[in-house]
Parts: sequence; structure tokens; C-alpha cells
Amino acid sequence: MKLWDKGFETDKNVEAFTVGKDYLLDMKLVPYDCKASIAHAEALCEKNLLSESEKSSLVSALKEIIALHKEGKFRINASDEDCHTAIENYLVKKCGDAGKKIHLGRSRNDQVMAALRLYEKEELSKIIKLVSLWKETAKKKSSEWSSIEMPGYTHMQRAMPSTAGTWIGSFAESAEDNLFLLNAALKLIDKNPLGSAAGFGVPVFDINGKTTASKLGFSSWFKNPLQVQLSRGKYESVIAEALSQVMFDINKFATDVVLFSTKEFGFVNLCDKLTTGSSIMPQKKNPDVAELLRAKYHAVIGEQFKIKSMTANLMSGYNRDLQLTKEPVMNMFDAASESVDAAILLLNGITINENACKQAMSPGIYATEEAYKLVKNGVPFRDAYKIVAEKFS
Ligand code: ARG
Repeated sequence: MKLWDKGFETDKNVEAFTVGKDYLLDMKLVPYDCKASIAHAEALCEKNLLSESEKSSLVSALKEIIALHKEGKFRINASDEDCHTAIENYLVKKCGDAGKKIHLGRSRNDQVMAALRLYEKEELSKIIKLVSLWKETAKKKSSEWSSIEMPGYTHMQRAMPSTAGTWIGSFAESAEDNLFLLNAALKLIDKNPLGSAAGFGVPVFDINGKTTASKLGFSSWFKNPLQVQLSRGKYESVIAEALSQVMFDINKFATDVVLFSTKEFGFVNLCDKLTTGSSIMPQKKNPDVAELLRAKYHAVIGEQFKIKSMTANLMSGYNRDLQLTKEPVMNMFDAASESVDAAILLLNGITINENACKQAMSPGIYATEEAYKLVKNGVPFRDAYKIVAEKFS
């Protein structure tokens, strides 16, 4: 039964259209919504709006839902609309009147935000761990490969001498920047949305963001209840930016691997386990992992664009449009974590073909050094440049 049931039937097509995929996506939010509901029930009890036994029965039912969900046994039906409704219906069934009391002082508008932000905090922490591992792996490879000479390219033309260590080390250093951005996003979103209710606070009762902030592990809360709704999509696009920066590096790493593993370059060998074959050409060993990693960046920035675009032009306050930003947020996290995982796997599965690298170190690569040596002997740089350029004309 819907929370807003007032005794008339909604058109079935309208029902299906408005629910969309939400009842499926919300499966990810169930444990977070339960966690927020436990904190809310405790707060109601502290304010004498629930009795001690009502609170206990709600808390144990909510814990039951978390356990059922873990076992894959908690269901949200399309007719429930979302996890908030499915959970409340369960509570009413299990706890009777106490279940009917839990929605006092909140709205699904702050409820969904609380669950989302708890989910996002956990996902960000997971990705921070993965990016740290990526950074450490790249750092290790960078020192292992520090003396393997490799041409450096500008305009995709051989430019100056470099090393395989410098190549991979650039990704380690950039990962530090990405960790800074991810941590900044985590810090930014660490505010309790609960207590803002529909977007205008809770009248009559003394309930606000402070009430449940520390119970939920938020380091602060929204002072202005309307800003909670303003932040939906705004915070998510900051998260998206941090994730797309992670994906940007992975895209470049993948592009390099695809190119460097061609017969034409041959700088990088891919271990067989990381390649796939062709259904027609028996000789093929394809770098599909790298190719898909390359494309995932575009998938993530596509989701970022959806979030930014769907949340613009909306009047202040909750608008149902916001529901459609849930899927892009979840897609982005899924794509980013599976990509960082795969990028680490790929990096661990490549070796550098020192011979091929050496062969590519053609004399032109040392031209700048040659000019600098002339400068050391007193020739002005522009003259030295011209002298050396003659040799390569
Ligand atoms: N599924 C909704 C969302 O994600 C939950 C909030 C619904 N609020 C409402 N006023 N209909 O936005």
C-alpha cells in the first residue's frame, strides 16, 4: 500500500511510469534507509513521541529488514513505489501502531536524501580505498621500471628520452590529486539531510538536522531545510566530477596500453590472461579490458551530464525530476569502482618490452640534449638549436 493512499485508484500506467525503475534501484538503499529509520525512531523516543517499547520493536524490525536484505530476501514491489514505503509497510505489519508512528517528523524527501547520502559516503570510501591501491600499484611499477628507457611523445611523434617509470609514475601522482578531490567530495556531502522533512522543516515538534546527525555519523547537518533539496544533484555532480577525474586518468592509461601493445609499438606486453580472442582470426589477442576502460570514462561523464542537466531549471524545493538522478549516481559509482579494479588488474598484467623501447630511441630523441650540450660550451641556445636542427633536416 502506498503511503499517500487516500482511497482512490491511480491509473496503472501512471503508476508504472512514476515508479519507473525506482523500486529496483532502491534495493541498494534499503540498509541505509533502515539505518536512518533506526536513528529517527531513537530520536522520536528521546522526545517522548514513541514509547521505549515501541522504539525497541521498531529497531528490531528494522534490523530484521537489514538481515533479510543481506540474504536477498527483502522485496520491494512496484506497487510499493520505493524502499521507504516497503519498509514502512513492513513495520506496520510487524509493529502495529508503532509502525504507523515512525513517519512523524519526516518526509520521503529527506528520507531519500539521508539514505542516498549514507550510500554515497560508503561508496566514496570504497572508491578512495581502490584509488589508493591503484596509486600504490602505479608507484611500485614506477620504481620497478625507473631505468627502462622509453621515448616520450608530443603530437604523437617521438620527442625526448623518458622512461617507462616516468610514464606509469605520472598516473600515481595524478591519483594523489584524485584522492584529494574524492576526499573533498566526501567532506562536502557529510551533512545530515534528515530533519528537513519535505524541505521546510518540522513544525510543532523540535526535530531538525541536529537531532539525528551524530547517530548517523554525519559530522554536521543542514541548517536551512530547503538547502537539503538544493543540494540534491549539486553534491552529486561534485561526486561525479571527482569520479570522472579518476576515470579520465584510467582513460588515458587505457589508451596508452592499447597503443603501446600494438605490434607497431610493442612497448607493452599484455599477459595472455588479460586478452580476449577473435571468433574469426586465430592469431588475435585483443586488449578488450583497456578498450572498455577507455569507454567507461565516457559512460561516467554521460551520467554526470544527466545529473547536472536534470537538476537545473527546477523551482526551489523537491521536484519529482530528482528521482531520475538516482540511477546515474548509482551507475557512476558502479562504473568507477569496477574500472579502478580492472585498471589495477591490467597494470599488474603488463610487462615492458625493453628491447622494443630501446629500438624506438632513435637519434632524434636526443636532439634537445645535444643542443643543450652546445649551450654548455658557450653557444647561445637559438644558434645551438639551428646547428642540431641541420642534422635532422
Ligand atoms: N523516489 C523518490 C525520489 O527519489 C522519493 C521521494 C518521493 N517524494 C515525493 N514527494 N513523491 O525522489
